[in-house]
Amino acid sequence: MTITPEFLENLRSHISLSSIIGKRVKLTKKGSRFVGLCPFHGEKTPSFNVNDDEGFYHCFGCGVSGDAISYLRETDGLDFIESVRELAGIAGMAMPEIGPIDKAKQERHKNLLSCLDYAASFFQGNLQKIDGQRAHNYLRERGLSDQIIAEFRLGYAPHSGLYAHLQQKGYGAEISKLAGLTGISERDGQKYDYFRDRVIFPIENRKGQVIAFGARAMGEAQPKYLNSPDSPSFSKKSVLYGWPQARERVRRNLPLLLVEGYMDVIAVTASQKAAALAPLGTALTEEQIALVWKLHDEPILCFDGDIAGQNAAGKAIERILPNLEPGKSVRIATLPEGMDPDDIIKAEGGDGLVRIIGTAASLVDASWSRKAALYDLSQPEQRAAFWQEIRRLVRTIGHNQTRAAFGDEIERRIQSMRAASRGGNAPFRAGIYPSVRRPKTGALRRVQTLLGLLIAFPQITIDTIETLSELDFGNLDCEKMKNHLFDVLIRDQDLDEDGIRYHLLKLGYKDLLIQIDETTAELWLNRKKADIDMDEARRKIDEIITLSLTPRRRQ
Ligand code: UTP
Ligand code: MN
Repeated sequence: MTITPEFLENLRSHISLSSIIGKRVKLTKKGSRFVGLCPFHGEKTPSFNVNDDEGFYHCFGCGVSGDAISYLRETDGLDFIESVRELAGIAGMAMPEIGPIDKAKQERHKNLLSCLDYAASFFQGNLQKIDGQRAHNYLRERGLSDQIIAEFRLGYAPHSGLYAHLQQKGYGAEISKLAGLTGISERDGQKYDYFRDRVIFPIENRKGQVIAFGARAMGEAQPKYLNSPDSPSFSKKSVLYGWPQARERVRRNLPLLLVEGYMDVIAVTASQKAAALAPLGTALTEEQIALVWKLHDEPILCFDGDIAGQNAAGKAIERILPNLEPGKSVRIATLPEGMDPDDIIKAEGGDGLVRIIGTAASLVDASWSRKAALYDLSQPEQRAAFWQEIRRLVRTIGHNQTRAAFGDEIERRIQSMRAASRGGNAPFRAGIYPSVRRPKTGALRRVQTLLGLLIAFPQITIDTIETLSELDFGNLDCEKMKNHLFDVLIRDQDLDEDGIRYHLLKLGYKDLLIQIDETTAELWLNRKKADIDMDEARRKIDEIITLSLTPRRRQ
């Protein structure tokens, strides 16, 4: 197929950009232009301009500009050809002649998509029938409303029946095999349904067309999730689950989370606190990273607090850095060990999710502390090895200016570490460095580390109560815990760590204690907690106090 510049020129002159954009953005005429609220960034006063004569839009707020083709590409996630086809349809123009091979391929593709869509409807319908009652109850018990079930087109695949239905509708064995819906028994050549007695999660492409399925067993059947095999319509590594639903929420300015599973995407979406996308049971690919950035400049990666989750976070960071561009980034949230976003929402509701989002670390903080955790930074040679490794990581950033800016920040941190060790205050954990502008999450982590030490070393706490009570712990929860900790200790000076924890738990600090433990886990790394002696703890506490805390302002 050839699309010539002449054809594009002709196409542009046949469409009105303002009417295409006007479908979603309220535009007001101003002279020869239209203006409205920019669909590409959140704003309250209109700085988005559309010029029909030139077929061009530009936002003076965020700097985006483009034509009808790029508009559809950016907002609907269409590729070039798809955008052109869509516009040609609107303009009533015929697409340029396409060759017979392309045509046959296109027909087959269309047929494949309609077969998949038909199957999705079949599964959806089954959820409402007697057969699907158990699946329906299962979804309800997992907290899903009928509305969210409908939005994600969830369904039920019965033990059998799909293949026969597909045949009735004229979809033969070849196409249903291609769609990954029908298997053929090696033993007797019998056709069987690929998904049997499972809850169905249709996977949609960016246009909202069903291209594959995920299917969850309700009982103990293995595997827990069965996914469609790759097909001409579906490439696992380039798809993210939940795109159309996420796009709708991001447009309403909700943050975008990258989570691990189908149910996480749905639970996050239902919480109305964020949008969510998930890769399909694989590590995040470069292609998926590029896709996520189409939807949001700074998505938040949510990883489980366990070792597997932390490894996944490390891998994701290594993959993201080379692809970093100006204006694009990620934040990295750590979930309590053994919990996924779905669990958090179930336990604490949307507020729990908001709390997690609030503690997400910046990319530079996360890169630094994840690498730092691998070294015993009290040892000079290990510090040197750490610096070498973190510098190597910075060098992987492809974009020149971004790499330079990142490098500056990392060098500043290294210099502070060196200064601290020259001052006889050898830092044995990074993350503790006096940076010129301390990021909020870094400050929070330091305060949590401090609390962890104060709980673990009550004698030091008692000795420093006066100084500590003068200091502002910055974060409301931490400030509250500090005061409760003092109350508890003043009443009973003989309490040991377990005793203190018991009291704090009873006072409702379970979540904060979990966070503190996660943060301080890095502090004890490579050593047993019991190996940290009083002197070291005291030095550490002094260091955090002098580097990170400011005296409370007096009224
Ligand atoms: P998890 O095992 O963490 O499950 O897999 P989950 O998402 O929490 O699922 P629920 O809450 O038990 O229903 C995370 C993701 O990994 C893929 C799926 O995409 C799943 O959502 N996965 C998992 C598979 O593809 N196959 C499996 O057998 C298990
Ligand atoms: Mn789960």
